[in-house]
Amino acid sequence: MRRKLVVGNWKMNGGRVANAELLAALKEAEPWDAAVAVCAPFPYLADTALSLQGSRMQWGAQDCSAHESGAYTGEVSAGMLAEFGCHFVIVGHSERRALHGESDQLVADKAKIALAHKLTPIVCVGETLAEREAGQTDAVVKRQLSAVIHTLGHCISQVVVAYEPVWAIGTGKTATPEQAQAVHAVLRAQLHAATEKSAEMLILYGGSVKADNAKQLFAQGDIDGGLIGGASLKAADFAAICKAAA
Ligand code: G3P
Repeated sequence: MRRKLVVGNWKMNGGRVANAELLAALKEAEPWDAAVAVCAPFPYLADTALSLQGSRMQWGAQDCSAHESGAYTGEVSAGMLAEFGCHFVIVGHSERRALHGESDQLVADKAKIALAHKLTPIVCVGETLAEREAGQTDAVVKRQLSAVIHTLGHCISQVVVAYEPVWAIGTGKTATPEQAQAVHAVLRAQLHAATEKSAEMLILYGGSVKADNAKQLFAQGDIDGGLIGGASLKAADFAAICKAAA
C-alpha cells in the first residue's frame, strides 16, 4: 500500500508574511494521513524550514542546477539545498521545459544530481494540448520518463514522478480521473520494466487539482497524490486536498 503524497508548488508566488500565515494555518490543520510538502521559491526556503519546525510537513525547491558548483550565475545547486535540510526538488516542470528550454536529458541530469545529494526529485512529465489531440500523449510522457530511466538506472526507484498535462495546468481544466489514470498506468508499466520496485513508487497527478476534484482523482489505482499549484496558496483549499488524500 503506497502512502499518498501531496506537494504544493507555490511557483513564483508568496511573500514572507503571506507564507508565514499560510504555513501557520496548515500547521493548525495537520496531521493528515498523506505525507505533505511545500515547494517554495528559493529566497523563502530558509524561512519555510523554520516555519515548519514542529510540523510533519516537509519542504522542497522548485528546481536545481544540473551542475555541482561553479560559474553558473543565477543557479542553485542540489548540494546547497541539501545543506538546509531540503527534502524534495521538482525537476522538469513544464514551465521550465517550455520557458527555459529544458531538454529531457537536462531534466534527467538534474534528477541525478538531486539524488546524489539525497534529495528526492519530483520528475514532471506531460503532454501539450496539441500533442494530446495528435494522439501522442503516451509517446511524449514515455520519451520524457525514458531519459530519466536511462540516466538513473536502478536508482529510478528513488524518484517521485508527476504527470502534469500541460493543458490542465493553471487552466481550470482538469484531466478526468479516467484520463489521468490511463496515463499513470502507462507510466507505471514503463517503471515496471525498469525496476522491480515500481509498485512502491509514487506517481502524482498535477493540473488544476482542487478541493472538489481531489478525492476522485486520488481514488484511481495509480494516482498516489498530487502536485498542486494555485490551490496550494490558500490554506483551506490545500488542507482540504491533503485531507482528500487519505
Ligand atoms: O506543479 C503544479 C502545477 O503545475 C499545477 O498547477 O495551478 O493547475 O494546480 P495548477
